[in-house]
Amino acid sequence: MAQFVFFLKFIISKFFLCLLVAKGTLGERFTPNFVYILTDDQDLMLNSPIAMKKSLNLIGDKGKFFVHAFVNTPLCCPSRSTILTGKYPHNLGVFNNSLSGNCSSEYWQKHYEPHSVAAILKNRANYTTFYAGKYLNQYGSRFAGGTAHVPKGYDWWIGLKGNSKYYNYTLSINGTNLPVKNLYLTDLLANYSLAFLNQKSREDSPFFMMVAPPASHAPFIPPKRYEHRFQGVDLVMNPSFNHTPHNKHWIVKMPPKRLPTNVSILSHIHRRRLQTLLAVDDLVERIVLQLKRMKVFHKTYFIINSDNGFHIGQFGQPWDKRQPYEADTRVPLLISGPGIGKKILEFYPVSSVDMAPTILDLAGIKPPHHMDGRSFKKQLLNKRNKIGFKFVFMEYWGEGNERSVERTCPWTYDDNVADCSLNQWCKCQDSRNNTYTCVTDFRDEIRFKFCKFADSERFVEAYNLSIDPYELKNVYSRMNSKLVRYYNNLLNKFKKCSGRTCKTL
Ligand SMILES: *[C@@H]1O[C@H](CO)[C@@H](O)[C@H](O)[C@H]1NC(C)=O
Ligand SMILES: *[C@@H]1O[C@H](CO)[C@@H](O)[C@H](O)[C@H]1NC(C)=O
Ligand SMILES: *[C@@H]1O[C@H](CO)[C@@H](O)[C@H](O)[C@H]1NC(C)=O
Ligand SMILES: *[C@@H]1O[C@H](CO)[C@@H](O)[C@H](O)[C@H]1NC(C)=O
Ligand SMILES: *[C@@H]1O[C@H](CO)[C@@H](O)[C@H](O)[C@H]1NC(C)=O
Ligand SMILES: *[C@@H]1O[C@H](CO)[C@@H](O)[C@H](O)[C@H]1NC(C)=O
Ligand SMILES: *[C@@H]1O[C@H](CO)[C@@H](O)[C@H](O)[C@H]1NC(C)=O
Ligand SMILES: *[C@@H]1O[C@H](CO)[C@@H](O)[C@H](O)[C@H]1NC(C)=O
Ligand SMILES: *[C@@H]1O[C@H](CO)[C@@H](O)[C@H](O)[C@H]1NC(C)=O
Repeated sequence: MAQFVFFLKFIISKFFLCLLVAKGTLGERFTPNFVYILTDDQDLMLNSPIAMKKSLNLIGDKGKFFVHAFVNTPLCCPSRSTILTGKYPHNLGVFNNSLSGNCSSEYWQKHYEPHSVAAILKNRANYTTFYAGKYLNQYGSRFAGGTAHVPKGYDWWIGLKGNSKYYNYTLSINGTNLPVKNLYLTDLLANYSLAFLNQKSREDSPFFMMVAPPASHAPFIPPKRYEHRFQGVDLVMNPSFNHTPHNKHWIVKMPPKRLPTNVSILSHIHRRRLQTLLAVDDLVERIVLQLKRMKVFHKTYFIINSDNGFHIGQFGQPWDKRQPYEADTRVPLLISGPGIGKKILEFYPVSSVDMAPTILDLAGIKPPHHMDGRSFKKQLLNKRNKIGFKFVFMEYWGEGNERSVERTCPWTYDDNVADCSLNQWCKCQDSRNNTYTCVTDFRDEIRFKFCKFADSERFVEAYNLSIDPYELKNVYSRMNSKLVRYYNNLLNKFKKCSGRTCKTL
């Protein structure tokens, strides 16, 4: 585990490394509540949890911190769609953040929204359900039913129109359009969460709350009270930081291959991201205190998680997600609640697709067969210590958008690339051929990642993470053909899997 110490230093110093697990107890029988805090673009590898000390105390110390939590696709809309439904993007047809890629599209609303984890809890177990914050990037758009559209299955609906914003945004309050000026969104979400809980205390049915703050997504605007924090904190210059990308796929290798010498903008972004997370930390604290006041914290599963990670300077790329590397695909995952031991670092791998089935399982509902993910309830409650999951699957469809390509950049790419801006030194952040599938192998002591790109070179990247956790050395050319065939087969199976066939891989 020594390799992970770099980015886990702060956590390991905080937690007891409890491999002989402290068993939690499930005393009285009850239907648990759920609070799911879903942050945006929050990395694990760049140490973002240092901004969430109260959360580490209130949730981490009372439960588990997952060392190997991944997303199945490092992009907001497809990833959120997966978290909500327990299905891989290829089974949802949600490919990107556009309506044409099924982000909050009519198709999604008709076929998948009614089967979200919230809707199932409501229909099958009479949960009271609450959603507040960023939902799916196209939510509220005129072509997706506007803010009048309230996804099925929610009693309280506080949906943010569009993508992450911190000030001056539009909410859908139970389907009513509400423009809001000058109120910091994360704080307002905390207020709505408490309003819900206050109303809830008079009733006795269990509840499910999902709260999705804009942090730490661009435009990285902290609340006034935190603008001056983390001044002494600098960029995380881990071994992949500004590492010259030879043997990597096209978009990473496109010029400029290295960052300029003055990267103060990267430090600035890093600090601003941390500052935005301080407000999330406050939100978590306020909800936890309220749950304790209501005397229901002990019967509430509390989850903190993100829709994807983030890179800042890794492999010479400015800042974004969308790449198959660890910074973009690992996310924080903390879970506390009834039956979960305390202060545990958990090493078995889980991914976004497993969240919905696990929540249903914890609520005593058998996850529907059509879900692609698997419940890790048994592992969570320490009924089984062995690693149960062998592989983590990822898939991504690269985007192209001519309008996001700066005209003055020294090259003229067409609609095949996206997000090439002057302040990112004209390095494009995405391209249509940045389309890939990956599998990370966690069998026994193996930590091996195999990614295949749908570009003109059919490029392959493979990393032996057990000796190269920062993915510096692509070992594809040195793999024997039997191993290559094995991972190719596995990827083909994952790409096509659905429901039961995913769960048996
Ligand atoms: C959405 O997904 C479905 C099923 O994969 C597909 O048929 C449809 O073309 C996609 N796009 C839209 C905009 O609905
Ligand atoms: C469902 O929950 C509501 C409170 O949210 C309660 O009034 C109602 O009686 C419950 N229904 C059933 C069938 O338990
Ligand atoms: C939203 O609707 C629910 C259920 O009808 C109601 O209890 C709640 O007060 C409404 N919330 C707001 C903020 O209006
Ligand atoms: C929000 O709107 C107000 C009033 O129009 C404006 O003064 C303020 O600068 C805006 N804030 C942001 C972050 O855009
Ligand atoms: C949240 O509620 C508190 C207490 O009612 C109030 O002082 C504060 O202004 C509210 N914050 C926002 C962002 O609405
Ligand atoms: C580095 O760039 C920033 C703007 O991004 C500028 O304010 C600063 O003066 C520059 N530092 C040096 C040493 O050139
Ligand atoms: C999103 O996906 C759809 C369907 O594959 C595609 O037509 C569209 O061009 C994609 N959007 C972008 C910005 O790449
Ligand atoms: C990827 O797409 C870009 C933009 O269209 C193109 O210039 C480049 O040659 C492509 N590379 C590969 C390996 O397909
Ligand atoms: C990864 O590295 C370990 C340790 O050197 C080695 O035992 C293993 O065979 C390597 N795996 C592959 C697939 O190369």
